[in-house]
Amino acid sequence: MTATKTILPTQAYARPDSKSAKLWERAQHVLPGGNSRTTVYMAPRPIYAAEGDGCWITDVDGDRRLDLLNNYTSLIHGHAHPAVTSAATQRLARGASFPLPTPEEIDLAALIVDRVPGIEQVRFTNSGSEAVMMAIKAARGFTGRPKIAKFEGAYHGSYDWAEVSLSSGSGDWGPADAPTSVAYTKGTPPSVLEEVVVLPFNRTELAVARIEREAGNLAAVLIDPMPNRAGLIPARPEFLRAIREVTRAHGICLIFDEVISFRVGYHGAQGMFDVLPDLTTLGKIIGGGFPVGAVGGRAEVMAVFDPRGGKPAVPHGGTFNANPVTMAAGLAAMQLMDEKAFDRLDELGRKLRSGIEACFERAGVPGGVTGLGSLFRLHPAQRTFVDFRSTAQSTQEAARLARLHRQLIDHGILISPTGLGCLSTAMGEAEVEYCLEVLNASLQLVRGEEVGKA
Ligand SMILES: Cc1ncc(COP(=O)(O)O)c(C=O)c1O
Repeated sequence: MTATKTILPTQAYARPDSKSAKLWERAQHVLPGGNSRTTVYMAPRPIYAAEGDGCWITDVDGDRRLDLLNNYTSLIHGHAHPAVTSAATQRLARGASFPLPTPEEIDLAALIVDRVPGIEQVRFTNSGSEAVMMAIKAARGFTGRPKIAKFEGAYHGSYDWAEVSLSSGSGDWGPADAPTSVAYTKGTPPSVLEEVVVLPFNRTELAVARIEREAGNLAAVLIDPMPNRAGLIPARPEFLRAIREVTRAHGICLIFDEVISFRVGYHGAQGMFDVLPDLTTLGKIIGGGFPVGAVGGRAEVMAVFDPRGGKPAVPHGGTFNANPVTMAAGLAAMQLMDEKAFDRLDELGRKLRSGIEACFERAGVPGGVTGLGSLFRLHPAQRTFVDFRSTAQSTQEAARLARLHRQLIDHGILISPTGLGCLSTAMGEAEVEYCLEVLNASLQLVRGEEVGKA
């Protein structure tokens, strides 16, 4: 389907008798808060999806939206790409899962090893969260040290250690040179907080000094080179290089979490930044739309998983690890992503981000955009974004983003409530234009609402 020039309301879900409303009613009886995935909760209630076709999603009430979320960046080709669908269904017809390895896992592993400079060997998991958990366990097993360091505000999935200081705020985040370790989940044991050192992102001297102070106890420094929840701000190249140097000097494993940022290029974020970690976590796009994760790295570190000769240093089971349907779909999706395909998405992403800046300016609504490649994030404020703290929103800014999100989903665009969005190869110039037209119109409405409130 191609984009249309007409901006139509997509608000059928909001009617009290909509199909989404009825599903939500049923869901609340059997799912806590009607929800199985915190991320997709949307107040006052979610919109239920019926089907996807390329870059469009149709909801159960028949409204169609341009999908700028792509299951939180995991669908690099949008929905139901024929090659991916065919690879998955052909494999599925020969059995969904086995208590034996299958050839498909070797094919996808070989593609990843071939493309990602820091990965000599790889293991598959079912999610990015598990990949991060296994990377941390591998680093502990390899170094024999107990602690990890991670960056303030960065999301790495739901492993306790990786969640620390994910959503700290000005009331509890502590000094900038030594951020406080703040629990994200109620019930997090205090011992976890003692084992996680929190670092300021993009602040080279402060981060290096803190790593040096803790070095003897650190198994790993975990970093996403462009952490989405912390603002989708790319790491400064000299900052990443300094983190690499200090970790190498102290025998600390450097883990790049590229679950999202692998999207930025054929060789991933590490190829783009030209900095090689010891371990890398992947997920999202490498599964072709199916549940997936992977941890890869230097063979010397990955040897902690080697089962030859008895129990490995770091055992790693998982009933569905390297599931052949996921492996087949992921291989098909990744084979389509050659260097030209990444370049094309890069170019579209650049156009979209500069168009977004222009829309904010034209509408007279304070706002900005961050991101790289096919990824972008809208910010409801106009300032320089450097790190997590610089993206913290005032009440007025948070209300602006909530209004903008509502206008976008009510006028044909699906994007995350946090402002995260991404492109897929199913999109072209026409879809970028459509997106900017809807954004333009939505910002006018937001401006009208803000003036009305003042
Ligand atoms: C950077 C990063 N790491 C890890 C994860 C966890 O991946 P999953 O949702 O597959 O568990 C995510 C999920 O969004 C992520 O963005």
